[in-house]
Amino acid sequence: MTEQTRPSAKPARPFFSSGPCAKPPGWSAAKLDARVLGRSHRSKLGKQRLQYCIDLMRELLRLPDTHRIGIVPGSDTGAFEMAMWTMLGARPVTALAWESFGEGWVTDAVKQLRIDPTVLRAEYGQIPDLSAVDWSHDVLFTWNGTTSGVRVPDAEWIPGTREGLSFADATSGVFAYPIDWAKIDVATFSWQKVLGGEGAHGVLILGPRAVERLESYTPAWPLPKVFRLVSKGKLAEGIFKGETINTPSMLAVEDAILALEWAREIGGADALIARSDANAEALDRIVEARDWLGHLAADPATRSKTSVCLTVEGADEAFIKKMAALLEQEGAAYDVAGYRDAPAGLRIWCGATVDTADIEALGPWLDWAYATARAG
Ligand SMILES: Cc1ncc(COP(=O)(O)O)c(C=O)c1O
Repeated sequence: MTEQTRPSAKPARPFFSSGPCAKPPGWSAAKLDARVLGRSHRSKLGKQRLQYCIDLMRELLRLPDTHRIGIVPGSDTGAFEMAMWTMLGARPVTALAWESFGEGWVTDAVKQLRIDPTVLRAEYGQIPDLSAVDWSHDVLFTWNGTTSGVRVPDAEWIPGTREGLSFADATSGVFAYPIDWAKIDVATFSWQKVLGGEGAHGVLILGPRAVERLESYTPAWPLPKVFRLVSKGKLAEGIFKGETINTPSMLAVEDAILALEWAREIGGADALIARSDANAEALDRIVEARDWLGHLAADPATRSKTSVCLTVEGADEAFIKKMAALLEQEGAAYDVAGYRDAPAGLRIWCGATVDTADIEALGPWLDWAYATARAG
């Protein structure tokens, strides 16, 4: 192998994974508030910390009082499936899929719930025609498709008045784009993405029409305990006040609180969005300057600003693996290979916990890894 010259400077924090994502700058385990560890999550302190976490999320998401927000089991998957299992079946369903996770919700709807949804699909890099959605249906979609780097442009395509409910898997979208909550009946996410928190828990957001559905409709299929949001025909309000369905990881909760406090200190939602924008712009400059790199997402209006997916000229999966391994060995970049189901390419997380200087420092290392992998 011809030895390529290594760039002189490395990213200070070479964490570019699309989940779990980089911890917030300055994060340290020593900064976690440990008072509640070893205590009951139903103690006064336990409930206070869960409620505080919920309050911080509400503030940072600029969630209106019309919407409830609660912590549930099973990370984003748990939260989204809980919504599907408890609310679908009342009316026809349209599922939008343009990458692996959206496709997963289609599989749930077809093979598990057997509700025969209308499916609007697009290839990796593209998005289905959002104007073709029939809003007399309940509509499932992914705000930011983490495995293709394609997102919805905004919420303009969702009508203010709709018969069906909108279900947004927004796990790699919240805290990165402004969200018009009036257009969202159900949204889910996990702390492990834009906040750089831990997996384990999901966050479930319910608008008033979702609550109305829960209280007026009982699905035909059985619901496991961890999915039950209703008790005696009424919404289990405790879930949205920190009375979790089952035992949460208070360590994960404390870690989320630390990330949320960081977010508040740097300026809240606008600051998080600005950081993600700056990172995506820095990466775009790197792509523009290299004819062997490109964006998988064709249209800049629907290109992700968090999970940015890149094409590499002439690369197959083995080549990408080699590049990613070289970058990891050097401690220059971790976890930058694209998702296993996506076309071979790189995926660089640009969410708010990543520093722009680290994205900028990555450019020369991508050149080095590309040249080294080609020479090998
Ligand atoms: C769009 C999307 N949905 C769902 C998931 C699954 O998330 P979790 O592992 O937090 O359940 C991911 C994870 O990457 C995702 O990107």
